[in-house]
Amino acid sequence: MFKRDHPLQTSPPGADDGASGIALSELLDGHPVATFVIDRQHTITHWNKACEHLLGWSTEAMIGTRNHGVAFYAHERQMLSDMIVSGDNEGLAAHRQSALIPGAYETEGFFENLGVGGHWLHFTAAPLRDASGAVVGAIETMRDVTERRVAENALRRAHDNLEHLIEKRTAQLAEANERLEDDLRQRQIADAELRAKHLALTELNAKLSMAQEQLVQSEKLASIGQLAAGVAHEINNPIGYIFSNFGTLQSYLDQLFDMLHVYQAAEAEASPATAARLAAMRKTLDLDFLREDIPVLMSESKEGIVRVRHIVQDLKDFSRVDTTQDWVWANLHGGIDSTLNIVSNEVKYKADVVKQYGAIPDIECLPSQVNQVIMNLVVNAAHAMSERRGTITVSTGTSGGLEAGAEAEQVWIEVADNGGGIARENLSRIFDPFFTTKPVGKGTGLGLSLAYGIIQKHRGSIDVDSEVGRGTTFRIVLPVRQTTAASEEPSP
Ligand SMILES: Nc1ncnc2c1ncn2[C@@H]1O[C@H](COP(=O)(O)OP(=O)(O)O)[C@@H](O)[C@H]1O
Ligand SMILES: [Mg+2]
Repeated sequence: MFKRDHPLQTSPPGADDGASGIALSELLDGHPVATFVIDRQHTITHWNKACEHLLGWSTEAMIGTRNHGVAFYAHERQMLSDMIVSGDNEGLAAHRQSALIPGAYETEGFFENLGVGGHWLHFTAAPLRDASGAVVGAIETMRDVTERRVAENALRRAHDNLEHLIEKRTAQLAEANERLEDDLRQRQIADAELRAKHLALTELNAKLSMAQEQLVQSEKLASIGQLAAGVAHEINNPIGYIFSNFGTLQSYLDQLFDMLHVYQAAEAEASPATAARLAAMRKTLDLDFLREDIPVLMSESKEGIVRVRHIVQDLKDFSRVDTTQDWVWANLHGGIDSTLNIVSNEVKYKADVVKQYGAIPDIECLPSQVNQVIMNLVVNAAHAMSERRGTITVSTGTSGGLEAGAEAEQVWIEVADNGGGIARENLSRIFDPFFTTKPVGKGTGLGLSLAYGIIQKHRGSIDVDSEVGRGTTFRIVLPVRQTTAASEEPSP
């Protein structure tokens, strides 16, 4: 077997055709890898068949020359083997040292003159040493690595392309992502703006409807109050003098009857003609009946006048329009009573009113407005009655602070009727302004919305419980005190 470290020892370069030299040439010729050998003088000693085939330079032409550089590069040029032989470490440093063979180097190069379109060659050059280890020549082999290089290049190109593509795509994605994020941000901003606007609008709307409610309420209250106050004032005077005149009339009548009595007694002493006239007159007038009936008429009239005075008083009570709307401490029962009197005309043909008053304390309120609420509820209850006469029950009571001895914190008022009830689908709308199920002219749809507004103002609540065919109950709960400061007063 050819041994790298020994061949030149046995066959000095270009010297002889000794047995081992021939053997080496044959060995190299039979070797499929292109190989040449140079000696210490850089003269080619071996140029194998594969070399001939690869480069197109014949063995005969090459042996004994120093044209190996020319064969490869078409001009004189140092090759790896030359550098090894001349110990050109600087030149060698540019190449890769073999990991397997000490002192050997590898390199690769492209040779455009080789074959069609050139070839890539991989060179390996190793030193040849004599017995003392001195470099006496070098052997260099070339492998055609064109296919690998081409594949490698293609791979690198593909890889580069891919990387480029990925970079491009990544950039595009990043851009798209940025756009999306931008979009999202803008959308969020728009969303937030929209929400804020919506909120503002809702608030505005709420304020508006509250303002409207209050306006309607105060306007209505004011006009009813004015009307009531005007009527009360107009009637108050005539009723006043009728009442006082009535007292005088009563005493005059008594005196007249006394006088009549005396006349009647004197009748016996009169002449027969006079006595007959008087008797006839007494008969015509039915004096005995008059004497009986006049006092009855008088007392009935007096009762009527007292009632009218009462109504006027109620009107005045109700219309205490409290122009300044001062919060006062008032007992609700008085207000409820006068309100019931005022609406009695509207109610009395349709229902009996039953009062079930509990013991309630005075509460801090706007009395005329609470009266207005009661009136609206009672009138509604009366309207809810059909032909059949019904019952309206007004009850009151206290709640809260129920521990023994504690003061009540709230009072409640219930107005219950056994009328037609409220259809389920209308229940949520009855407090809406202008919601009415009554014919035009009969209902304005403002009664309950006013009531609601007033109760709100009192920081109370109004609830409804209704069943079609069985009746309706409105329950109002009002705090006894309005100011938290007042309620936090330390108890003695
Ligand atoms: N006690 C009740 N029984 C049955 N329906 C009622 C009662 N109270 C209120 N309602 C219903 O609520 C609606 C609104 O009442 P309200 O605001 O007082 O307006 P209006 O009485 O002018 O219709 C009424 O039209 C009626 O349908
Ligand atoms: Mg009403």
